Amino acid sequence: MAANILVLNGPNLNLLGLREPEIYGVDTLGDVEARCATKGKALGLTIDFRQSNHEGELVTWLQEARTGADGVILNAAGYTHTSVAIRDAVLACEKPVIEVHLSNPYSREDFRHHSFISDVAAGVICGFAGKGYELALEAIADICGRSGN
Ligand code: DQA
Repeated sequence: MAANILVLNGPNLNLLGLREPEIYGVDTLGDVEARCATKGKALGLTIDFRQSNHEGELVTWLQEARTGADGVILNAAGYTHTSVAIRDAVLACEKPVIEVHLSNPYSREDFRHHSFISDVAAGVICGFAGKGYELALEAIADICGRSGN
């Protein structure tokens, strides 16, 4: 059976393409979603792609992954650097979570160098713009295949 993968996007990513294009590029979130849909199809994954500006909604969606998903791709955006609640939800979902960033936070301001998610994630992909989501889908397909899901 196809693995169900939840792709979660945090605050301000709805403005992708408009927001700081010199950092995040000109692709919109719709373009990223389309890339994920194509890649997911090629890998035999079912993709559920969502975005929220609200921390609690992201927490609720991660909780849903306990029973509703086989793995999660998470770009928590600014909450990456601030949110204990999202870290706790990553642990609580008991599913492999891959952290993704479009930019490379380590080449940016110091406050972006700490992630509350990285050490509890299955892996981290950053700095490759929308391509990073495709790489994460490849990785999660391997992980879900290994665990027999
Ligand atoms: C981001 C990096 C974060 O530091 C930032 O707050 C974002 C986007 C990225 O995808 O590069 O909103 O997660």
